[in-house]
Amino acid sequence: MTSTLSTATTPEESERATVPQFAVIPGAQVQHVLQGREKEMVELVAATYQLHAAGDSVNPPSYFLRFPDRPSARIIALPASIGGPTRVDGLKWISSFPGNVAAGVPRASAVLILNDHDTGYPFACLESSIISATRTAASAALAADWLSRSRQRPTRVGFVGTGLIARYIHTFLAGTGWSFDEIGLHDLSADSATGFRRYLEPSGTAGRIIVHESAEELIRSSDLVVFATIAAEPHISDVSWFEHNPLVLHVSLRDLAPEILLASTNVVDDIEHCLKANTSPHLAEQLTGNRDFLLGTLNDVMAGRVTLPADRPVIFSPFGLGVLDLAVGKHVYDKVAAAGDLHVIDDFFHELRRH
Ligand SMILES: NC(=O)c1ccc[n+]([C@@H]2O[C@H](COP(=O)([O-])OP(=O)(O)OC[C@H]3O[C@@H](n4cnc5c(N)ncnc54)[C@H](O)[C@@H]3O)[C@@H](O)[C@H]2O)c1
Repeated sequence: MTSTLSTATTPEESERATVPQFAVIPGAQVQHVLQGREKEMVELVAATYQLHAAGDSVNPPSYFLRFPDRPSARIIALPASIGGPTRVDGLKWISSFPGNVAAGVPRASAVLILNDHDTGYPFACLESSIISATRTAASAALAADWLSRSRQRPTRVGFVGTGLIARYIHTFLAGTGWSFDEIGLHDLSADSATGFRRYLEPSGTAGRIIVHESAEELIRSSDLVVFATIAAEPHISDVSWFEHNPLVLHVSLRDLAPEILLASTNVVDDIEHCLKANTSPHLAEQLTGNRDFLLGTLNDVMAGRVTLPADRPVIFSPFGLGVLDLAVGKHVYDKVAAAGDLHVIDDFFHELRRH
């Protein structure tokens, strides 16, 4: 699987004493592998959800590191392990510093560490903001496809929050065959909405682009609504804004008051994960004392285990699983390795004798 480095000095040791080489994969290489591969990544994410549902993964709760002196910031650790043919363990370590945006730097930054299945040795460190945005957008595009199969396919998409994740989701929708008559944008920051519009215009995929002054206006005029804000608590609570039964990709997880979820069909990526950390589904569970408002997971929908009613809004709330980062990261590693382009750090593991 990974290229290895032998440190054996005796015949016995040569049987077992091999550790992987350690490679660093910068963002340019990650982007080179993933760009234009939207369909392939959506298929990889679908296969990973299936593997996760079949129990061939370990995905413990994410750990949120927060700081009393920087309350809006956090760094999240997502450890995970995938079985199946991929067989890799690892950790995504992703920072969210919303204040970065005002300084012209993206909010999120991340690395992904891949660990060797047999020895546990880390064998790669990948730039992972691109991997994270890719798996998030691929999951959103997968959900848009499956959750719209039992209803009229949306033609008017609206983005509430128009940062990097919204851009990736649009790229993945366009890259998997979606086209829209109308694209609505709403953001508290006029600069963000303008930046997103500038990305859309030359992309050649845009229908009519409308910047909405209010979230209400955007929601009422969209049949596919994407939330990609950084809201820490619900700012949308009027159930009547959703009376046209849109499909909602609630990627930022905390925008909607529980009442909206209780009036909708709710699909998540993983129930245990999603009902944590004050997400809107977590608030709905706290309000009702049960999980009856959940229809099931996206994998349940893909497997035909649940049926979506067409006469209610459908809300997909994906917590974001570490196994998806691992699957995409390992794919990138394999492609870079196969091309012979790995930047290996010589002697990274240096103390290789016990005595
Ligand atoms: N569920 C997942 O798996 C997953 C994965 C990655 C990112 N995310 C989430 O996606 C969100 C967006 O990430 P990003 O990197 O694009 O952030 P970003 O900072 O680049 O963009 C967020 C935008 O939302 C806008 N905004 C904030 N509050 C708003 C509100 N109430 N109404 C309208 N606009 C508002 C901001 O002005 C900003 O332009 C974050 O909350 C992040 O945690 C979720």
